[in-house]
Amino acid sequence: MFEKFYKIIFPILNFIPPEVAHGLAIKFFSNFKKKSDSDDSILNSNVCNLNFPNPIGIAAGFDKNAVAYQGLIALGFGFVEIGTVTINPQSGNKKPRVFRLAQDKAIINRLGFNNIGAEKVLENIERNDKKNSSRLVGVNLGKNLDSKKPINDYVELLKIFNKKANYLTLNISSPNTPGLRDLEKKDNLEILVKKVSSYRRKNSIKTPVFLKIDPDLSKKELGDVADIILSSTIDGVIISNTSVKRSNDLINKNSNEKGGLSGLPIKEKSNILLKNFYILTNGKIPLIGVGGISNGKDVYERILNGASLVQLYTSLIYQGPTVINRIKQELIYFLKKDNYKNVNQAIGKSHK
Ligand SMILES: Cc1cc2nc3c(=O)[nH]c(=O)nc-3n(C[C@H](O)[C@H](O)[C@H](O)COP(=O)(O)O)c2cc1C
Repeated sequence: MFEKFYKIIFPILNFIPPEVAHGLAIKFFSNFKKKSDSDDSILNSNVCNLNFPNPIGIAAGFDKNAVAYQGLIALGFGFVEIGTVTINPQSGNKKPRVFRLAQDKAIINRLGFNNIGAEKVLENIERNDKKNSSRLVGVNLGKNLDSKKPINDYVELLKIFNKKANYLTLNISSPNTPGLRDLEKKDNLEILVKKVSSYRRKNSIKTPVFLKIDPDLSKKELGDVADIILSSTIDGVIISNTSVKRSNDLINKNSNEKGGLSGLPIKEKSNILLKNFYILTNGKIPLIGVGGISNGKDVYERILNGASLVQLYTSLIYQGPTVINRIKQELIYFLKKDNYKNVNQAIGKSHK
């Protein structure tokens, strides 16, 4: 039924500006209730003491304001990362700011953390949880464009969301907030991580905290991040956000638009970064692989390279809602083919 519906709707969506199409998708998912079948136990996974029905989540940026996560879970995603949320509401950059690169199976966005602000997002979570509280939701945290003390923003947001989120993500890697990626630099990252750790310790906050990094980091920068993470209380690393780099292979006329590139053109890059980070951290830190994932083989490869969980965004836009159940079936096929009894056993196996 879904497949049929989407086959009719999808060509139409392609003629609608991306943000309008996104608004319709959000409306659809916020009303979507049909629960998908429970997942095959081979996909059940425990990461940071959280039980994931399956390891495939929807990446940050899709449900920025926490209005559609129940529908996305009902559709079959193992978890949803809402946000990016900032303390104060902000409208983001001038439109147009999202561009489809259909031939490249990619998107460029320069949204700039448009969201309704922490207070309203928290209200949305509280309201939606009343409908059905069984869900796994991460909240992705970012700084306001005009913030004078970015690190304080993260601590404040941690304070606001730690009781409602299953995990929190410190997003210091979006390319559309000037200066945000400076927080990935060694000295700044050390301060951020220390302040967050000390707040968690003083307030006995057990909610896992992840860090989301960008795919354009050099080897040296990646090494610095790994060292800091290894000596910190950060529980996991999400690899990666969108890229500001452009290869000459891109075909679509939008390829020179400013912003972050996602989808197929960043697949290899995100995969290699994850693989390298797994080696740098000796497999000690749970990793969440994201970037260009569009089928079960991509997921399996990311898991073998060291991902405990994965996320996707762009392939949902190009393939539609049926993508998640298809990916899960394909992943089950690959796991069984290699005689794994559970997805956890395959994590990092390409290194052994
Ligand atoms: C339109 C759009 C908006 C996004 N917004 C956010 C965001 O608010 N915060 C964030 O951390 N990542 C954001 N991302 C990045 C995704 O979470 C993800 O890291 C990236 O798109 C790579 O995955 P993909 O290739 O599967 O899309 C956004 C991506 C897209 C396409």
